[in-house]
Amino acid sequence: MTSSTLPGWLWTLIVSLLTYNSLISARIMITKVEHESNPDYLTMKVQVNNETQGSTVDVDGTLFLDVTQGIFVNIELDSKMDGEYMTMIGTNKEMCSTEEGGLDPVVPMLNEEMEKYGNMSFVCPYMQGYYVLRRFHMSDDHMLVKMVPPGDYIFKMDLKHQRENETTKVQVFKLDFYFTIS
Ligand SMILES: *[C@@H]1O[C@H](CO)[C@@H](O)[C@H](O)[C@H]1NC(C)=O
Ligand SMILES: *[C@@H]1O[C@H](CO)[C@@H](O)[C@H](O)[C@H]1NC(C)=O
Ligand SMILES: *[C@@H]1O[C@H](CO)[C@@H](O)[C@H](O)[C@H]1NC(C)=O
Repeated sequence: MTSSTLPGWLWTLIVSLLTYNSLISARIMITKVEHESNPDYLTMKVQVNNETQGSTVDVDGTLFLDVTQGIFVNIELDSKMDGEYMTMIGTNKEMCSTEEGGLDPVVPMLNEEMEKYGNMSFVCPYMQGYYVLRRFHMSDDHMLVKMVPPGDYIFKMDLKHQRENETTKVQVFKLDFYFTIS
């Protein structure tokens, strides 16, 4: 049977069922969160909510000092293959640099998403204060989500600070989300 022999209503039903299934299948479930923050800089509380459409994340953070230079963000996506996690994508960015370093789209895209759910973002400068993210999630049709096939992953984020005239960087925070796309 070819599609032209199917009654129109049946064809519509099939297409909508397929669409419905692919919406469900793009579900992101966070199974574990590990985080660590440097108490000289900030405190952070992270909570994962299990919702029917997938996981959402609440973050409360208090930054104790103003930081206007030397902030390095490292973002990595690890994928589980044969029982072991391997890095698929890794990106590193100096957030306060005025020169346009690289064409990395991941950090700006994340910032754009974060801005929808609160007042926390990676945009430099970082002023002391209390910041929140509420029910943060990546929508199923976001480009970054669509790029990633079903499987088990870790999204790793880590932020370091290199003080003026210093050669070493100190850890500010580290956050690992373990998640499954089914
Ligand atoms: C969320 O639900 C999934 C199954 O749907 C379960 O595996 C997981 O442990 C739950 N996580 C939390 C934080 O309740
Ligand atoms: C961020 O949002 C929270 C909640 O609305 C608010 O209490 C806090 O003052 C805001 N922080 C800044 C720095 O504006
Ligand atoms: C960093 O070094 C420059 C040049 O040596 C100096 O002018 C500046 O005061 C130093 N900054 C700090 C925070 O020590």
